[in-house]
Amino acid sequence: MQNIETNDNYWMPFTANAGFKADPRMIQRAKGMYYYDAEDRQILDSCSGLYTHAAGHSHPKIVEAVEKQLKTLDYAMAFQFGHPGAFELAERVADLTPGNLNKIFYTNSGSEAVETSLKIALAYHAARGESQRTRFVGREKGYHGVNFGGLSVGGIARNKNGFGPGLPHVHHMRNAYLSESRFTKGQPSEGWELADDLEQIVQTYGADTIAACIVEPIAGSAGIFVPPEGYLQRLRKICDRYGILLIFDEVICGFGRTGKAFGAHSFDVTPDIITMAKALTNGTIPMGAVACDTALYDAIAEGKDENVVELFHGYTYSGHPVACAAGLATLQVYEDEKLFERAEEMAGKFRDLVFSLNDLNIVRDIRSYGLLAGIDLEPGDKPGDRGYDLMKTCFEEGMVLRTSGDTFVLAPALIAEEGQLEEMIAIIRKSLAKWAA
Ligand SMILES: Cc1ncc(COP(=O)(O)O)c(C=O)c1O
Repeated sequence: MQNIETNDNYWMPFTANAGFKADPRMIQRAKGMYYYDAEDRQILDSCSGLYTHAAGHSHPKIVEAVEKQLKTLDYAMAFQFGHPGAFELAERVADLTPGNLNKIFYTNSGSEAVETSLKIALAYHAARGESQRTRFVGREKGYHGVNFGGLSVGGIARNKNGFGPGLPHVHHMRNAYLSESRFTKGQPSEGWELADDLEQIVQTYGADTIAACIVEPIAGSAGIFVPPEGYLQRLRKICDRYGILLIFDEVICGFGRTGKAFGAHSFDVTPDIITMAKALTNGTIPMGAVACDTALYDAIAEGKDENVVELFHGYTYSGHPVACAAGLATLQVYEDEKLFERAEEMAGKFRDLVFSLNDLNIVRDIRSYGLLAGIDLEPGDKPGDRGYDLMKTCFEEGMVLRTSGDTFVLAPALIAEEGQLEEMIAIIRKSLAKWAA
């Protein structure tokens, strides 16, 4: 085998390419909670892939299902033809979603799930004679992927800058977090009224122009912002009052991350649409999905001849058989190993460990819920430098860490042992020592 270290051909995503190539962090294989490099050095994975590998890396049951599927049916025409795995997985996903979110549309990624959800919202209103409802409401610091719809409703400036104006008629609520909530364990008690930003947008632009409001139950990529108590309930109430669809983007929150199947369950609010991806297949094969309230599908399909396509949307690889096999095996593993329950049980211990870092002067804020935590560092001379440095130091110390600016995130796999969580915190403490005096 040719031993390629790095080269100039691979343009890496969301990566400082030049910096990486000057000092590469290469991973050769993975198993359970660990990565291994070319020298077989064990590297703890503190972000379960990229929030993907809830059941750990290379789970034998999922690997076996993928292998078997590849030998049986490697692909089936996705449009106008079907295969059993796609139907079976849709039923399993629908069993997990709350309320009547029983119509499952497959995509290949979280970004595509978001685009699909926005299009379904528009199609729903148009089908009901309200095609003037074309506005979307997102939230500051929201992350909904990198395609133009998701970028438009997203609220992370760095990702949007330089890519043009995006969708017209998009408005943003403020981030659902108040500075007085710093160092709150779990949900802050203050800040629910930030949901009234939606009411404000309704009053300014008119309810009958708004199609949907999209939020992550916990804002993930921006650094784990946990919704204040009552906030999501308030959003639901405003949406109901004005006929606005509520979309929960659960690409990170879904599949046990919050201690339940979805954030919707943990926060006891049922949206009209849930987008999901990542842990749907335990990250083994790319796949995303959109779960819709059956009422949306019914409205879109109503009155159409059964031989007419009701939604002109889909991807070549929607419901790819190998992804479906991975998804089915993954959901079985979650059930057999009781991983959602495990995440809920471990959440308290995890939170206590993460909050043990609050004795360090350099730690500016800690937020945590379920098996998710976001920690802000005091910036150095140049914002973002410390986060980048910390990521590199942790790798040298034997851990992959996800950082964004001067914020780092912990999202261990749901299989994490207490000792591994302790190891994560120990590596971070050691890596922060140079600034923590
Ligand atoms: C909430 C949310 N939505 C959408 C996405 C985009 O998913 P993908 O990178 O699979 O396109 C992400 C990715 O992290 C996400 O966290």
